[in-house]
Amino acid sequence: MRILGIETSCDETSAAVVEGGRVLSNVVSSQWVHAAYGGVVPELASRAHQRRIVEVVDEALRRAGSEKREIEGIAATYGPGLVGALLVGLNFGKALAYGLGKPFTGVNHMEGHLYSNFLSTPAPECPFVSLVVSGGHTMLVSVEAPYRHILLGQTRDDAAGEAFDKVAKMLGLGYPGGPVIDRLAATGDPGAVKFPRSFLEEGSLDFSFSGIKTAVLYYLRRAGLDERGSARGTWDEQKMADICASFQAAVVDVLVRKTMTAVERTGVRNVALAGGVSANSGLRRAMEIEAARRGLRIFAPALEFCMDNGAMIAYVGGLRLERDLQSPMSLAADPSLSL
Ligand code: KG4
Ligand code: ZN
Repeated sequence: MRILGIETSCDETSAAVVEGGRVLSNVVSSQWVHAAYGGVVPELASRAHQRRIVEVVDEALRRAGSEKREIEGIAATYGPGLVGALLVGLNFGKALAYGLGKPFTGVNHMEGHLYSNFLSTPAPECPFVSLVVSGGHTMLVSVEAPYRHILLGQTRDDAAGEAFDKVAKMLGLGYPGGPVIDRLAATGDPGAVKFPRSFLEEGSLDFSFSGIKTAVLYYLRRAGLDERGSARGTWDEQKMADICASFQAAVVDVLVRKTMTAVERTGVRNVALAGGVSANSGLRRAMEIEAARRGLRIFAPALEFCMDNGAMIAYVGGLRLERDLQSPMSLAADPSLSL
């Protein structure tokens, strides 16, 4: 089926046309207005989505070489996310589907990330364990067959990406922080500072990342810096790189070890990474080393499908519509929708 997917759950206005696993177009318009605030400002996000949604959808259709009437179904994210932001894409998708007389389905944003690996080749073979790590979520999911999955564990407080963003803010590195920390970490010593790793109870597949964020804050204070993010300019680049590398190593350590516990428990041989943090080079490297040691196969989506994008929403929309899982026009946005 040729599906138009719309994603507006946070600060990316995105639309894509996907047919089966083939991405015909994937237009992502990022909102830079939030950078000055060190995080996404919900009201500004909704307004920016409203300004851009029409042109982003038009551009996705144009790049796909597709007329509106050739679209066989429309999918839009209905949660989790910022309610005002979700409403823009969801209502646009519903209205377009109604106007064109096409089937409509709401898509869970986390299912989008979970299945984003099917947009890149090679795609993982089922069954596999997926580590979904983004700015809003950190979860381990067992995918038994396409569109049959169970949640194994998730974060009890901060998401991994959120920890990256908050630590970057403390270090005065701007927003989003993940890519900057990743880049600086490349020249740092991961053993320079011993930040704590939280594994929770023995065998738990849940995560907790609020402790490490606080540990970084205390470390900075002990080093005579305030938490307002003024480390830059005060410290030399090497020190900054060492903190980034040490922080990243601690987060990656927990993510890799928990994923391997999930692998042992489910007995799968395939592991997929997904979500914005799966772009992290340290995480990819550590996963590959551990996978080689255990004879596992690791899959990670192409970078454009790691971040929020309409293609993953269109793909899951296709899975749903093939199974006759249409949504009613009364479908409401659900900011805290779970997997
Ligand atoms: O999946 P995503 O685009 O949006 C959410 O659903 O949250 O993920 C965004 C998150 C941000 O927290 C960002 O800092 C993080 O992904 N991120 C990274 C990297 N690239 C993006 N974190 C670590 N290393 C990266 N290279
Ligand atoms: Zn996301």
